[in-house]
Amino acid sequence: MADSSKFQPPRGMRDFYPEDMRLRSRIFDAWRAAAEESGFEAYDACVVESLELLKRKAGEEIVDQIYHFKDKSNRDLALRPEITPTLARMVAARKGALSLPLKWYTIGQCFRYERMTRGRKREHYQWNLDIVGEQSVSAEAEILATATRAMQHLGLQQEHYRIHYSSRTLLSALLYRLGIPPEHHPATFLALDKRGKVPDSAIFELLKAGGIADDGIPAVLRLLEIRTLDEALELLGTDSIAADEINFFLACAEAHGILPLLQFNISVIRGLSYYTGIVFEAFDIQGELRAIFGGGRYAKLLASIGGGDVTAVGLGFGDVVIAEILAERDATINKKPRHGYYVAAMEQEQILTTTRIASALRRQGHTVNLTLAPVKPRSFFSKADAAAAAFAILVGPDDIAAGTIRVKDLEMRSQTSQTIDNMLASA
Ligand code: HAM
Repeated sequence: MADSSKFQPPRGMRDFYPEDMRLRSRIFDAWRAAAEESGFEAYDACVVESLELLKRKAGEEIVDQIYHFKDKSNRDLALRPEITPTLARMVAARKGALSLPLKWYTIGQCFRYERMTRGRKREHYQWNLDIVGEQSVSAEAEILATATRAMQHLGLQQEHYRIHYSSRTLLSALLYRLGIPPEHHPATFLALDKRGKVPDSAIFELLKAGGIADDGIPAVLRLLEIRTLDEALELLGTDSIAADEINFFLACAEAHGILPLLQFNISVIRGLSYYTGIVFEAFDIQGELRAIFGGGRYAKLLASIGGGDVTAVGLGFGDVVIAEILAERDATINKKPRHGYYVAAMEQEQILTTTRIASALRRQGHTVNLTLAPVKPRSFFSKADAAAAAFAILVGPDDIAAGTIRVKDLEMRSQTSQTIDNMLASA
């Protein structure tokens, strides 16, 4: 006999049995509802991309994690690790024809060959919410207000999580003040983003490789000790683009009612090289898991792939971390609510009657799980219960003789009768 335990999903990949799908659907429904409520339009895209689109030379972790392969025509292809380059490609392909700003969302599977830890898999679903072609940081606030709505739909309120934000414009201005020219900023961002994830000595080396002189490195690292926005702005002086941007972003956030969720955190830099302005990451209040969602402004990505000078802002919100948070809060989250009818016949002779009953109930808009072969009463009721049906109808020879059926309410443990003619006629 073949051994069924020989084949498992590859490490880091998930199967979704029906009980797992319940939670996943809940999350997807919350994402979709929030996006639609804020006027975002759905799009979809291919999971396999050209490797060239996904690869950037900046030394980001995500590029090393790409699952890539050659197809039979020797093309370099990859499973997407994220959706943003694909979105940029789609918008660039319709350059000039789309009316900007556009607000788009999608839910798609992404693949990253990650070192596995809690909340980190090699495949995850990601809700992407992006606004393309809007300069104002009111777009950042709109993105976050929409993500907050999704959290509310999932039962998570302000006391459960925080959105940490910072600004690469701000960090750039601070670096410039330290005498570090703009061409060294992208590498500096990626190096500083690794603080706390790799030893400081490795960061030192990365900063050095990024063009920062040895004696300048301590001052760069000290920037991460800035604790408040006021402290950062004081260093810059009031007359800065970064200050104006952040202040208007906060004013918009206040108007959306999400200001209490926001927390300035200079160490939120993000590990993707394309971000240029405000960046953010949401964490549960315990802060034990990786980010629930993350994103920011990317003003140059479209231009880099021929899409013209079009700015954008967006976020990616994965299903893994949020599922852990929800399951921790409610152990019964995968429990199925009672719903619909379970219908069966005791003997072959009643099968056509039960089929007609199921068909009539379905036409009335009910969910009906029809048992396709005769069943014994005991097994029928235990299956109906396990399937979390609300009502059960088991038809036997006596029911046909009497012309009536008994509808059992499985929740209330009560029973009503109906004539078969009535039931079939009411459809
Ligand atoms: P990201 O921060 O790399 O951003 O991923 C966004 C979210 O996807 C994370 O906060 C996390 O919830 C989830 N995620 C990422 N990798 C994994 C993993 N290995 N296992 C489980 N969950 C994961 C981006 O991907 C950007 N492209 C987002 C974006 C959209 N920025 C602008 N628009």
